[in-house]
Amino acid sequence: MDTMTQTAPKTALQGTEDFFPINGTDHIEFYVGNAKQSALYYQAAFGFEWVAYMGPETGVRDRVSYVLQQGKIRIVLTAALSPEHEIARHVALHGDGVKVLALWVDDAEKSYYTAIERGAESAFAPKVLRDEHGEVVLAAIKTYGETIHTLVERSRYNGPFLPGYEARRSVYPVKPVGLKYVDHCVGNVELGAMNKWVKFYQDVMGFKLLITFDDKDISTEYSALMSKVVSNGNGYIKFPINEPAKGLKKSQIEEYLDFYRSAGVQHIALATDDIVATVTQLRANGVDFLYVPETYYDDVPERVGKIEENLEDLKRLNILVDRDEDGYLLQLFTKPVQDRPTVFYEIIQRRGAKSFGKGNFKALFEAIEREQALRGTL
Ligand code: FE2
Repeated sequence: MDTMTQTAPKTALQGTEDFFPINGTDHIEFYVGNAKQSALYYQAAFGFEWVAYMGPETGVRDRVSYVLQQGKIRIVLTAALSPEHEIARHVALHGDGVKVLALWVDDAEKSYYTAIERGAESAFAPKVLRDEHGEVVLAAIKTYGETIHTLVERSRYNGPFLPGYEARRSVYPVKPVGLKYVDHCVGNVELGAMNKWVKFYQDVMGFKLLITFDDKDISTEYSALMSKVVSNGNGYIKFPINEPAKGLKKSQIEEYLDFYRSAGVQHIALATDDIVATVTQLRANGVDFLYVPETYYDDVPERVGKIEENLEDLKRLNILVDRDEDGYLLQLFTKPVQDRPTVFYEIIQRRGAKSFGKGNFKALFEAIEREQALRGTL
């Protein structure tokens, strides 16, 4: 499949030697309790098409996997078929969550051994998978918590996903909502561990530190967090890493760590080029978003200046907007998408801006705190 190159903005990092070239995000795999029902949620609520399947009907006895796609975004939902299974243990401990952030590379074996030599821990050694559509090379390294990065080399493969998967089509009448590609994936790590994981991405994959937010940038009256954003050589992969900071009450990162029981993926930002249309459809489909009070919009014209969108649309849909030196961005965050307050999605439209919406942090974190208060976890 050659559809995974995203049109992320080029960064100043280009031109420097890249010893760990990555073409883009290949897929994101969740381990879930009930893949069949989760797959319908992604089709009905988020407008993903069902494209591939693996399970007992395809000769796999111990698990099922549903592959869903929209634009260049591929999500895999995997569940175990027995209580002893490693996937069942993972779900019992963490709840539904992201197991794999898979990276599309040209040479999986070379990438894997480069990472191992540079200090990564192996999740599994390179292996070649084949079926009638060709062959794929997979290898994987461990990152924070129980999350892994699978390295996917697929230039000699033209099947629906990976060898062993069969093509499927949605039975549900899916209406895509305009989601295009993965903009960034954020990890929450334990207090004191942020710098270790920033260094991991720098040492192992040659990522560069893009931005640092300290607890003065990201704090409310009650809670705080710190964040550093790392990015790969071509800028297509951006991984912000958060850790909790001391505040008067419990940080949203601590709440995540309590419920996920380890470090893990906090949110996945999906890009659209028409956020008003995308969010209108997502809301009509029943997707639940964080609420920001109407007063947020009072100083938007002054803070952000001229924008293409109608401010009334943004207000009605509760879309946030922020400007940096390169342009502006529009963004909105869902509530958690499973029972535990862990993984959620960001919907983002970049109009030049390359940053992450620092001007919205305070409003957003206050919104999250209102949700925490409702859950009794603030
Ligand atoms: Fe984000």
